[in-house]
Amino acid sequence: MDERLVSGEAELDEGALELSLRPRTLSQYIGQDKVKDNLKVFIEAAKMRSETLDHVLLYGPPGLGKTTLATIIANEMGVNIRTTSGPAIERPGDLAAILTALEPGDVLFIDEIHRLQRSIEEVLYPAMEDFCLDIVIGKGPQARSVRLDLPPFTLIGATTRVGLLTAPLRDRFGVLSRLEYYNEEQLSLIAERTGDILGIGLEKEASLELARRSRGTPRIANRLLRRVRDFAQVLGKPAITGSLANEALERLQVDRLGLDHIDHKLLMGIIEKFKGGPVGLDTISATIGEESHTIEDVYEPYLLQIGFIQRTPRGRMVTDAVYHHFQMEVPKH
Ligand SMILES: Nc1ncnc2c1ncn2[C@@H]1O[C@H](COP(=O)(O)OP(=O)(O)OP(=O)(O)O)[C@@H](O)[C@H]1O
Ligand SMILES: [Mg+2]
Repeated sequence: MDERLVSGEAELDEGALELSLRPRTLSQYIGQDKVKDNLKVFIEAAKMRSETLDHVLLYGPPGLGKTTLATIIANEMGVNIRTTSGPAIERPGDLAAILTALEPGDVLFIDEIHRLQRSIEEVLYPAMEDFCLDIVIGKGPQARSVRLDLPPFTLIGATTRVGLLTAPLRDRFGVLSRLEYYNEEQLSLIAERTGDILGIGLEKEASLELARRSRGTPRIANRLLRRVRDFAQVLGKPAITGSLANEALERLQVDRLGLDHIDHKLLMGIIEKFKGGPVGLDTISATIGEESHTIEDVYEPYLLQIGFIQRTPRGRMVTDAVYHHFQMEVPKH
């Protein structure tokens, strides 16, 4: 798959860049007010009782700030964070090694927690519930199980696919927080904050222009800002104005709603070849030459979210909003 400017997923070399842009405290973390307000209370209460924070599950689409929030929670609790991910833990012993190395109160962050193997999940259950490990020593009839105490810790899990989590694992989290897409005002504040860190001024019109095209996602806002900054630099401009942002984003082929050539191909394909639908996913896939699961998992969610595509029992349909967006006449149904 091509790398898309408007993809919520991190690009290969984006990690180090993002690290410097991450807010460090809850007050620097823009938006997600409901999640933040709850966490504030839970953190405060845990600190008052000198206990560890309950286990937290953060879920929501890529690039909305799950990893960022996990590091902030550890920071606000004043503890260390140990980071790993579902696919990185290959054997139960790997997890046991990580758990026994924790200091009391530490945060263990498991990214992509839906990708943990079942045998490893089972090690996690008693660890989460009773802060202990059940280890089997020996083999065959001589094998016996030994309980090992662990330091109390907080598990923070993150996932983009909460539906794939098993029920027993999900039930062991005391706090389940779902991150939502950001609105334009919040994204514009995020862009301005990033501008400050990168040392480039952003006029309000420019940050709003970026916000509108960022698909509700901070990662995309930051990425678009970096690209627009390149234009400003080459043109020798000290600050990004609304019109400069607008021009740069047009040249980058990210339209007013953050749609790119792939979205256009998909939507125009349904309009031109199937009179706007309904049309089956596999048929669309064959006509535009993209795998149907890629269409479903990667291309479609944002178009569904902004109401450009509808799922009907007979297939996908574009809505009137798409014709308006492309300044086309809406066909009579
Ligand atoms: N609320 C926020 N305020 C300011 N910046 C944010 C916020 N949320 C995310 N960001 C920025 O967006 C970028 C992506 O965030 P992060 O890596 O936390 O997303 P994620 O949800 O973990 O994504 P993934 O699902 O790919 O792991 C970071 O560089 C971070 O600085
Ligand atoms: Mg992450």
